[in-house]
Amino acid sequence: MARIVRCDRSRPFLIQVGGQNVAICACGLSKNKPYCDGTHKITRDEEPEKLYAYDDQRNRSVVQVKDEEGNAVNLPSETLAD
Ligand code: FES
Repeated sequence: MARIVRCDRSRPFLIQVGGQNVAICACGLSKNKPYCDGTHKITRDEEPEKLYAYDDQRNRSVVQVKDEEGNAVNLPSETLAD
């Protein structure tokens, strides 16, 4: 079963465990969850008016944009990478 998880944070949550600093992934893209592996850096140039999807190879696609009135417009699924 597949699911879409929407994340809008572009940096990890920093917590302390047993006196150690630990970075917990909050972007949803780490391959070492729950820990941050630095992948969040590829989200830094995301534009706030767009919605992005990432595939397993971390290829990015724009799946939704906003029109001039601020309404969300879904782009055709053909724009998604396999
Ligand atoms: S916050 Fe997700 S990889 Fe760093």
